[in-house]
Amino acid sequence: MSLTYHPEKIAALIATHQHLPGALLPILHAIQDATGFIPPESVTQIATALNLSRAEVHGVITFYHYFRTDPPARHQIQICCAEACQSMGSEQLIKHAELAAGAEYAVHPVYCLGLCANSPAMMIDDTLHARVTPDKFDKIIKKIGGAS
Ligand code: FES
Repeated sequence: MSLTYHPEKIAALIATHQHLPGALLPILHAIQDATGFIPPESVTQIATALNLSRAEVHGVITFYHYFRTDPPARHQIQICCAEACQSMGSEQLIKHAELAAGAEYAVHPVYCLGLCANSPAMMIDDTLHARVTPDKFDKIIKKIGGAS
């Protein structure tokens, strides 16, 4: 998945889907699947190819909450907020994470990561972390990189 705008890649995705009935949605899905979002620069390209106005394309993109127009964060942090983790300070950990993690991180509360006996639990991308304190969080982020 590439997070930048490549007009030739967008053109290829448009060409593959533009002959389908109701081609706009399949094209938007294909672009988001390939790049992680709908680059705003691609709206004109799509509109021209489908003989639509830019406003029509933009209207469809904003109507469906599924479509995003900004690149997704590079790393996903999930912090457990279920009972065991909450009793061990996961709410404070979330607040700390939102302040301490850089723009490359998105922080999401989740409900049970299966590490209840080692709470508070956190998952960054595909890696689980147990007994996460704010200090431990900072060390983990420093190791991965990208903290602000
Ligand atoms: S309650 Fe947090 S991992 Fe289960």
